[in-house]
Amino acid sequence: MTHFIVRRMRPDEAPALADLESEAWPAGLQASESMIRKRLELGHQAVVAVLGTRFIAAACFYHTSQDPTNTGRFPRDFERFSTQPASEPIRSSYVYSLCVTPAERGRGSVQRVVDAVIENARSVGARYVVGDGRCAAYAGSAGPGPDRTRCDPLFRRAIDDWHRSGRKPGIELLIRDPLLRFHHRLGCEFLHLAPDFLPSDTASGGFRVIFMKRLTRQEPGSTR
Ligand SMILES: CC(C)(COP(=O)(O)OP(=O)(O)OC[C@H]1O[C@@H](n2cnc3c(N)ncnc32)[C@H](O)[C@@H]1OP(=O)(O)O)[C@@H](O)C(=O)NCCC(=O)NCCS
Repeated sequence: MTHFIVRRMRPDEAPALADLESEAWPAGLQASESMIRKRLELGHQAVVAVLGTRFIAAACFYHTSQDPTNTGRFPRDFERFSTQPASEPIRSSYVYSLCVTPAERGRGSVQRVVDAVIENARSVGARYVVGDGRCAAYAGSAGPGPDRTRCDPLFRRAIDDWHRSGRKPGIELLIRDPLLRFHHRLGCEFLHLAPDFLPSDTASGGFRVIFMKRLTRQEPGSTR
């Protein structure tokens, strides 16, 4: 069993987060140390899973007064989504760049990181945790490195139909994608499709599916 601890990242630990980003994300989707510093200056934070001196998993987030259900006002792309300043009064926690280093995937660190983000959101009174759901089954990725997802033609057609018609596909189609299935298991709702959100994510066709988890009153012993 892997022994790691989960905690908030300190501002001087931006280099360790940049190292994790370069291990966990394909080229073109990794945040540099300077980008991470810029985001921290905007009031962003990160929860990290630490094994020895290495970060093995992380999620970045910030608190905002924005209402994620107001689609017209939602950040149009990842650049805006990940560089908005934190704002008050807090209504939502916006989360991005959830990742686990390849060798530690499937070992539970991601759940602990997600639980810590949710706990933090609750503690500041946020009603929603919101993120940009990657959907790599749209085009699939088979390049070098750990980022391998098969293209799923049915899923791809469902996303294209959603894009064309504006009508959200049924959940059974959306959760054909492994990452959307992951968010669904966490109790998230899918809010809207964001085309050209991150064009460099070719596996996802540049799309993101914006998701939201409503935070209910915490039951004893649970952070979900
Ligand atoms: C997504 C991620 C954080 C999940 O962490 P994990 O420790 O693998 O979590 P789990 O073991 O619970 O796996 C969750 C799902 O992700 C899928 N998955 C794992 N690695 C994957 C990868 N490289 N690409 C796509 N999907 C992957 C799994 O198939 C699993 O789905 P399933 O069990 O329904 O088939 C991790 O795989 C990762 O860092 N991926 C690269 C970065 C990324 O895509 N982040 C998501 C941003 S929305």
